[in-house]
Amino acid sequence: MGVAADLSHVASRAEVTGYEGPDKLEDCLKDSQVVVIPAGVPRKPGMTRDDLFNTNAGIVADLTSAFATACHKAMLCIVTNPVNSTVPIAAEVLKRRGVYDPRRLFGVTTLDIVRANTFVAEAKGLDVNKVSVPVIGGHSGVTIIPVISQAVPGVSFKTADREAITRRIQNAGTEVVEAKAGAGSATLSMAFAAERFVVSVLSAIDGKRAVIECAFVESTVTEAPYFSTPILLGRDGVEENLGLGSLLDYEAKLLQSAMPELLANIDKGVKFAKERY
Ligand SMILES: NC(=O)c1ccc[n+]([C@@H]2O[C@H](COP(=O)([O-])OP(=O)(O)OC[C@H]3O[C@@H](n4cnc5c(N)ncnc54)[C@H](O)[C@@H]3O)[C@@H](O)[C@H]2O)c1
Repeated sequence: MGVAADLSHVASRAEVTGYEGPDKLEDCLKDSQVVVIPAGVPRKPGMTRDDLFNTNAGIVADLTSAFATACHKAMLCIVTNPVNSTVPIAAEVLKRRGVYDPRRLFGVTTLDIVRANTFVAEAKGLDVNKVSVPVIGGHSGVTIIPVISQAVPGVSFKTADREAITRRIQNAGTEVVEAKAGAGSATLSMAFAAERFVVSVLSAIDGKRAVIECAFVESTVTEAPYFSTPILLGRDGVEENLGLGSLLDYEAKLLQSAMPELLANIDKGVKFAKERY
């Protein structure tokens, strides 16, 4: 209720209502059009996102189950890590409940794009509000694949600089976890990223055209059954998957090295949900 009180003081047109406890969950979700799940534990120094699996998998499965009961036609946006596994978990729970619509389930990877935009703009002295760098793949370590060759405006880097900025984008979450030294992971930049993604989803529901965001969705673009690429959003969620576009050899190699970890993360989520539900 403290969070609701805090949010209710923000000068916006949004009305804020707080609900507390599992017995209020369905009241909270009823009639929602967009649901964001950020619940769960964050990383501490030395942890990977996969180390959060044991705690967060069950939280996401339980919340998704309540979503299935209360508002399965809403868009479901998952922030909780490990996103590479929690999205497949949510999909399996929704399938089991007979209400899965792959157009409406998103893993929120927007923070990777926000970071890529910031670092590229800083490196090139550009206005960050005019920089757009797609980041594809998944949302952990090597599965985060910045596609700097498709940046708008176009930018060029020497090989060593491109590699360094790529590594920084991949490890940016860890940079925050280490700087916070045990007090959690990114929260303020994540709030910025989640706001951007949710406003995009809401604008598309409202009929705005040409709204594009990268998101981790069910996919046939690669061998991975879930994969993040730029997505054209519409009234019903994913309107069109815009795919990989053309990749430099360097980026194609990043994709290749991401695949084993990404497939293992997805498989772990699917297995967990199948065993539990
Ligand atoms: N997708 C991304 O880019 C990204 C970025 C940052 C953090 N994260 C993830 O977001 C999650 C939350 O991070 P945080 O820093 O906000 O953590 P936090 O500890 O500050 O907040 C987590 C919140 O979840 C709530 N919660 C826990 N179990 C719950 C349940 N069963 N039902 C409802 N609420 C529950 C807690 O009460 C708490 O308010 C973590 O998994 C973290 O890894 C994802």
